[in-house]
Amino acid sequence: MKKLYGLFILFALMLVISACSDDSSGSGDSKDDSGESKDTGEVEIFSWWTGAGEEDGLLALIDLFEKEHDDIKVENAAVSGGAGTNAKAVLATRMQGNDPPSTFQVHGGDELNKSWVAADKMEPLNDLYGENDWMDKFPQDLIDMVSVDDEIYSVPVDIHRGNVMFYNKKVFEDNDIDIPKTFDEFFAAADKLQDAGIVPIALGDKEAWTATQIFENVLLGVLGPDDYIKLFDGEIDFDDERVVEAAEKFGKMLDYIDEDHASRNWQDSAQLVANGDAAMINMGDWAKGYFSNDLDLETNVDFGYFTMPETEDDFTIITDTFGLPKGIDNPDEVKEFLTFLGSTEAQDTFNPLKGSIPARVDADESEYDEYGTDAMEDFKNTRLVPSLAHGSAASEGFLTKADQAVNIFVTQKDVDNFISALQNAAPEM
Ligand code: GAL
Repeated sequence: MKKLYGLFILFALMLVISACSDDSSGSGDSKDDSGESKDTGEVEIFSWWTGAGEEDGLLALIDLFEKEHDDIKVENAAVSGGAGTNAKAVLATRMQGNDPPSTFQVHGGDELNKSWVAADKMEPLNDLYGENDWMDKFPQDLIDMVSVDDEIYSVPVDIHRGNVMFYNKKVFEDNDIDIPKTFDEFFAAADKLQDAGIVPIALGDKEAWTATQIFENVLLGVLGPDDYIKLFDGEIDFDDERVVEAAEKFGKMLDYIDEDHASRNWQDSAQLVANGDAAMINMGDWAKGYFSNDLDLETNVDFGYFTMPETEDDFTIITDTFGLPKGIDNPDEVKEFLTFLGSTEAQDTFNPLKGSIPARVDADESEYDEYGTDAMEDFKNTRLVPSLAHGSAASEGFLTKADQAVNIFVTQKDVDNFISALQNAAPEM
């Protein structure tokens, strides 16, 4: 029933988009912006990895692939906006206009499965996994996130962790702050920092997902991983008293954010921490890539990291994956590109720059710094839970409404309204 509802929403979304779109030829040809068929010998990769902290890894991948394949050119079709804020809408338009990119960034979990697989827009890739001997090279949990009914629909290139708090080491040291493990310790540390005139938590919610990300990690801390998963499976209601408690704690965290949060994006807010204007930030570990590669900061010297309160044994997983859309002209070349994306060479080129860990189990650990090796260890020894803010835990329809509810909550802090907005959106999960 939930699946049918999700399909209905997707269909409705596509109708709206197609009504606004000029390209409704429905010819099934793969076209570029000028309306001409795409040349073979070219693979277009669609993502939202542009700018600082996002594109370094992608550009390195493209370079490496083109060096090894002088017969195939890669067209970088990235659309800016963290977490796919703009890219997802552009992608929906293109898919509806029968103009799919050769391959596109999509999160494993509901974003892939309830949107594009359910709409019958993706080719299964079991053969590719077989040919490349990948079945035991990717963790089964990850393969499950990109599979529906035993058909595998995409190739994971990374594993990001979302329940991380990055902090400025000097600010913590100067103010004698110990790493907080519980919510109580966290709020005590935040009070101390605030009293010292430092912004405790940097937030950049110009794009709402950054606040949704904090909320999901607070939910995880309060509910624990089993009930967090049950919540997004519809087995626990959003008006459960623990969800209300999480909303209250989330509201309390918002007492510690910077004033100009609504005008900043995630990089701007991470910069506040880098500069010491703010003490900490909850951000997926693409922030680690940004700190190391764009701001030249050193792990465990300039910045440190800890898990969000009471989520130490959990790993909020965000995996960026790429699949093969139906109806493209040159599937063999795209499969060659996907084969490359799944190789250890590509993953060990991309992930050290991105701040993520490789999706493969046999990558070269020596390519990663202490943050990376810690994350690899935790990935093996903690409980994996899907991220809401990054599309894995619930459908895009629910996520859109949850982002809106969070956005309103950040300014109004009305717990009752927030809970009822989530409750009303729940049938769309
Ligand atoms: C996530 C994505 C990451 C990173 C982040 C910020 O959704 O999985 O790779 O790009 O958004 O844009």
